Amino acid sequence: MNLSPKDKIAKLTEDLNYHSHLYYQKSKSEISDFEFDQLLKELEGLEIKYPEYKLGHSPTSRVGGEISKEFETVVHRWRMLSLGNTYSKEELEQFHERVLKGLERESVEYVCELKFDGLAISLQYEKGLLTRAVTRGDGSKGDDITANVKTIKSIPLQVYGDDIPDFFEVRGEIFLPLEEFHKLNEKKKQEGEPTLANPRNTASGTMKMQDPKVVASRNLDCIIYGFYAETLFDTHYESLEALKKFGFNISNASKKCQSISEVLAFIDLWYEKRHSLPMETDGIVIKVNSTLYQQDLGFTAKNPRWAISFKYQSEEAISELLSVTYQVGRTGAITPVANLSPALIAGTTVKRASLHNANEIRRLDLHENDWVTVQKGGEIIPKITSVKKSKRKKDSKPISYIETCPECQTSLVRLENEAVHYCPNYISCPPQVLGRIEHFISRNAMNIESLGPRTIAGLLKVGLIENYSDLFKLKFEDLNGLSFEVSEDEEGEKKIRTIQEKSAGNIIDSIEEAKKVEFPTLLFALGIRFVGKTVAEKLAQHFGDIDSFISADKEQLLEAPEIGQKIADSVISHFQNSANTAIIDSLKSDGLKFKFENRLVDGSDKLNGATFVVSGVFKGFDREDLKIDIKNNGGKVVGSISKKTNYLLAGENMGPSKKLKAESLGVKIITEEEYKSLIE
Ligand code: IVH
Repeated sequence: MNLSPKDKIAKLTEDLNYHSHLYYQKSKSEISDFEFDQLLKELEGLEIKYPEYKLGHSPTSRVGGEISKEFETVVHRWRMLSLGNTYSKEELEQFHERVLKGLERESVEYVCELKFDGLAISLQYEKGLLTRAVTRGDGSKGDDITANVKTIKSIPLQVYGDDIPDFFEVRGEIFLPLEEFHKLNEKKKQEGEPTLANPRNTASGTMKMQDPKVVASRNLDCIIYGFYAETLFDTHYESLEALKKFGFNISNASKKCQSISEVLAFIDLWYEKRHSLPMETDGIVIKVNSTLYQQDLGFTAKNPRWAISFKYQSEEAISELLSVTYQVGRTGAITPVANLSPALIAGTTVKRASLHNANEIRRLDLHENDWVTVQKGGEIIPKITSVKKSKRKKDSKPISYIETCPECQTSLVRLENEAVHYCPNYISCPPQVLGRIEHFISRNAMNIESLGPRTIAGLLKVGLIENYSDLFKLKFEDLNGLSFEVSEDEEGEKKIRTIQEKSAGNIIDSIEEAKKVEFPTLLFALGIRFVGKTVAEKLAQHFGDIDSFISADKEQLLEAPEIGQKIADSVISHFQNSANTAIIDSLKSDGLKFKFENRLVDGSDKLNGATFVVSGVFKGFDREDLKIDIKNNGGKVVGSISKKTNYLLAGENMGPSKKLKAESLGVKIITEEEYKSLIE
């Protein structure tokens, strides 16, 4: 049947939303990721050609569309209240007494839920389609952030079921899964940027961004815990079950409790268990289950009388701020650190906490010698959560942020719209010089394992090197028997270290070995601000060699895939610095690989979403080149076959076990020729 473009767009939209629903809400799939992506691409193509037929619930909005200028303010149909909270079981029992008294009953059923730590969102659905997403704002009105919310894959753009009201609203919490938070911070570290404070602030900062594409890249998630409509379900628990059927992401931790002792048991159960969750939680929410009883109890000015949150005493202590010192990273980014009087938190002594940036100091309104609350949660570095203003001395001055670099006294700069200060003395600020070399030799970069940070510091100190290109000029005689002073610990105790013959040999060997490192990794190792590993791979693939890369102007840089203004500006300013081009010249003269030999010029996205296992020997390709070719065309290569594998690309002499496994899991086995026809 030949459909008109309009009908085809409508059909693809429906089909794709249905498959997303199956995948995200039911953990089932009727088609492979690859087939899904092919359909999505077809829809994208049609929408570009016929924008007038694009639907509001199109799955292409998942990747983010146009930049929004300002968020519209929207009045909430049902006020978005917050919960009263308590830290004590006694107060919880008092809450229970108030509920019983209010209802004139002997007992009442509760639902206990986890309290997810993110930002509250209200989602409106009309005729089964997501029409609006609004932040809590001041409770009466919030910001319309629909375009950003549509990028969150677990939020259905379309809901399914028989009894879906014409209009309803759900409320839930948008959060950044811990894994994504750690990934983001790892990337920040790689790029030489200060890390983000916590998942909650990152999630709410992300949702306020004007560019939905960036929001899409953050992989936020959402859990729904509330339902609002003209006609309600009899109980809160039933509404959760219905919401699950509609296709919402509901927590499966929620539990009905018949008594306050069951509630207390739920609280005890989750005290430890919450740390194994993939997201941060900040307590338990206890809700009266019956909708009728909820209505009977009603609200105070701020909170419902039928619900309360119980927060676990966080592992925290009070400590005195002794001083604020400032660390300088390899890109010159400054991180303020609070030095505290020793405080015992969860069995460890804490003496320091990160303050992140000047905004954080201002937010806390931190003064000299303030008494502060320090918290330690999970593996996250201790943080100052509040200041005890009542303990502040009258004449204590606010912490004033430094204006010059603590290491080299250069005046600091702060880029427009950025929270972080930088020391611009790229060439000679010692921690920047050291940091760049440490990054260069690190495992992810040039992997010069035999050189540790202390040896690097020593080599800098005795003047054998000034930057990482000098490493390739080192000779065995320079190193053998070389002695230098090193600081052994934080207190700065000094010791003399001598490089022995064996390790001098190892160092020279591993430096020699590093000359073989491929161009994309070398590009990453250069330590250009904002050029992390993935960006370096993209740039290497796009430009092919260092000369075309260095000579690219901004416009040409922006043509490279996924390169935005920020990266383009950073690359340009890096090579405007003659010290950096001199380093490149020096590295070139030592034979480092500034040409991407495995580059395959005509990349495509034909294999987007397809996962391959490559095995055996091939006629037209070296196996490693073949893997690069797959990636170059948007595919993914993994080592072993699983249900998620789409293709086993089989060469000659492939192991029989791989073949058997592929057959038993129904993974398609293709030949080199069939592969070629896939990418043609
Ligand atoms: S119910 C009328 N349930 O906590 C009460 N809230 O202080 C509606 N939250 O704004 C809230 N997990 O952002 C509810 N399971 C949960 C929750 C939850 C997190 C947040 C939500 C709300 C705040 C209440």
